[in-house]
Amino acid sequence: MSDETQTEARPKKLFIKTYGCQMNVYDSDRMADALAPHAYEPVQSAEDADLVVLNTCHIREKASEKVFSELGRLKEMRDLRRAEGSDLMIGVAGCVAQAEGEEIVRRQPAVNLVFGPQSYHRLPELLTRAHNGSQVVETEFPTEDKFAHLPAAKREVTLARGLTAFLTVQEGCDKFCSFCVVPYTRGAETSRPLEQVLSEARSLADGGVRELTLLGQNVNAYHGLDKAGRTVGLGELCYRLAEIPGIARIRYTTSHPLDMSEELIAAHRDLDALMPYLHLPVQSGSDRILKAMNRRHTTAEYLAVIERIKAARPDMALSGDFIVGFPGETDADFEQTLEIARLTGYASAFTFKYSIRPGTPGATMDNQVAEAVKVERLARLNAQIMGQTRDFAQSCVGRILPVLIEKPGRNPGQVGGRSPYLQAVHMEGPTRLIGQIIPVEIVAVGNNSLAGKIVTDAELKSASLSQSVANAVPA
Ligand code: 5AD
Ligand code: SF4
Repeated sequence: MSDETQTEARPKKLFIKTYGCQMNVYDSDRMADALAPHAYEPVQSAEDADLVVLNTCHIREKASEKVFSELGRLKEMRDLRRAEGSDLMIGVAGCVAQAEGEEIVRRQPAVNLVFGPQSYHRLPELLTRAHNGSQVVETEFPTEDKFAHLPAAKREVTLARGLTAFLTVQEGCDKFCSFCVVPYTRGAETSRPLEQVLSEARSLADGGVRELTLLGQNVNAYHGLDKAGRTVGLGELCYRLAEIPGIARIRYTTSHPLDMSEELIAAHRDLDALMPYLHLPVQSGSDRILKAMNRRHTTAEYLAVIERIKAARPDMALSGDFIVGFPGETDADFEQTLEIARLTGYASAFTFKYSIRPGTPGATMDNQVAEAVKVERLARLNAQIMGQTRDFAQSCVGRILPVLIEKPGRNPGQVGGRSPYLQAVHMEGPTRLIGQIIPVEIVAVGNNSLAGKIVTDAELKSASLSQSVANAVPA
């Protein structure tokens, strides 16, 4: 074998620092899996590592600046090690790597390799080249399918990872919202074939995973091919995943409002396993701004989609993303954003100040909003969203929710889990319940969690209670 890492007696230590979205979390795990046969074992900090990979995010300015300051720290660490006769390899992966490529090694020459999200399956080979002394920059979009070559999330690995897992089903985006770098850094939209997704899901379920979160930058645009060459949408994929023994909960993120197909909405109506919690970003409540953002829908169309989803699944709750201070946003536009957040009744939302992304149409718009205005709008929106999140939590009190019991609680005799709405729930209960989905009555709202009380089968069956049990799924 040519890879020098194979001839070393001591396994090399790998530390991957992940920034940004859950897809990066998934990709980091696959990179670690790809390097495991080459005698790299994961460690928890850069100090203990022979190879540090920063898996970066480019979605907002701060994210990429953080990477460069981290690279500065790693260079100092490497210099100290060299003075002591050892070394440190430094890699940059992810969307900053894809977007900046050569610029990274120019700004920080200590970096050994730079590789974009489409090259992860080639990491062992790239690393060999870097070990041989060349500085490797790999940001091509190859025609081959990275997922066909990357190891799937495996049973042994997932055992350590627990009851919930991410599974990437789709990558890239063709929507070209005018603020967003994703179509440039992750490339054109591609979907993994149905069988590949199902077999990875089965292996995760065999490893004890009960809850799957399907990932994609535009996940509801999923259009994988089945064995017969037929195109399958996200709705059908959910039906198929729900049949897998052990898979009790399915989530997916992130969605675009235009891709909420009839079939996907029907899946929400039909499948208990499909969680009634949907991340459906609208970004702005102003039609003028939505148009400038190239979102390709109006606020009325967005609200109509939500009506259809709620008609199919009345206990549906929503989360969203908002950008304040997009070029040209006036006070009146911003008021409409506050208004749509209120109308939609988001249970939570991620809020961002617009940040210029070089190469996107928004970057060259001449009506940029002043930073102070962005800061003020963000604070107002955040205050409103925080209130909505509290109100939503409060509205759960008295409801019986199915809770996936995930871990022992803070105090002996307690367990902790998650509601369908991703809220942390704490309650009295034995640890043998870990891994089960148990009906829990929500009794109080804490700071960042809910307090609950396990409902027994007998209580569940009693007529008075069963009326209020809309969605309890006894284990
Ligand atoms: N500035 C601010 N927020 C952005 N997002 C994407 N691009 C930008 C940008 N240039 C936000 C959007 C998206 C989320 C993942 O990040 O709200 O939905
Ligand atoms: Fe970016 Fe999402 Fe718009 Fe695609 S749909 S360009 S990923 S914000």
